[in-house]
Amino acid sequence: MLELERVTLRAGATPVLDDVSLSVGQEIVGLVGPSGGGKTTLLRVILGLTAPQAGTVRIAGRDVTEGARILVPPLCRGLAVVFQDLALWPHLTVREHLAFVLGGRLPRAEREDRIQGMLVRVGLPTAASRRPGELSGGERQRVAIARALVGEPRAVLFDEPLSNLDVAAKADLLDLFEGLVGAARLPALFVTHDPAEAARLCGRLVVLEHGRVVQAGTIAKLRAAPASAFVQRFAADPAFDRRGEIAVPAAT
Ligand SMILES: Nc1ncnc2c1ncn2[C@@H]1O[C@H](COP(=O)(O)OP(=O)(O)O)[C@@H](O)[C@H]1O
Ligand SMILES: [Mg+2]
Repeated sequence: MLELERVTLRAGATPVLDDVSLSVGQEIVGLVGPSGGGKTTLLRVILGLTAPQAGTVRIAGRDVTEGARILVPPLCRGLAVVFQDLALWPHLTVREHLAFVLGGRLPRAEREDRIQGMLVRVGLPTAASRRPGELSGGERQRVAIARALVGEPRAVLFDEPLSNLDVAAKADLLDLFEGLVGAARLPALFVTHDPAEAARLCGRLVVLEHGRVVQAGTIAKLRAAPASAFVQRFAADPAFDRRGEIAVPAAT
């Protein structure tokens, strides 16, 4: 369980996050809203990279941020994150990226098994010795999700992870995310501006505008009574009628 209670962060007089409360169980919750609405800042607060002025962040029942106090530092929160620009290290192999997360806490043979097993699950069974420069965009994103999940995090955060991919790669990755994150039964918060991604992955949406949660709930609820012009436009997208299926043009 990932919970935020009344989180407020101001930059000068301007509220960046304004009394934000939300909770994520074993599900993928979509975080959407106009650009500049505070989505990335919210993820930074959850990660412990930014301290708010007020409110509580709780992970698996433990308070990790209380007001301006960081009670548990970022690397000790058990969180994994997948960004749009992946932050892969160009000089490390795929295996080394995953081994870095596991650190020295497993015997070597077990660590190798975990790494290879994870690479099979993301569809990269033969990529262990390759470096990011030798991979396609979609393959790099598979490495990022493998790195995120191999350490068995308590929760996982996604910040527009599919935005840079072409349509075919995005459709493949959506299948993969749905299977992996669903099977992991983890709380996941998925920032996206793409209705197709939200429709496919997210049972519930939280809409953040000007740092405030203007509405939260299923797409049916948002459609029935949209709380803002943004919600009305987003929820009306036909992707929600297709459950996010992406039409991939046939290869020529
Ligand atoms: N530490 C900070 N200090 C001042 N302003 C900030 C800080 N972090 C974010 N902002 C501002 O807060 C707003 C929300 O930004 P962001 O969280 O990146 O939005 P989103 O990810 O929804 O596009 C923006 O106007 C941004 O410039
Ligand atoms: Mg952002």
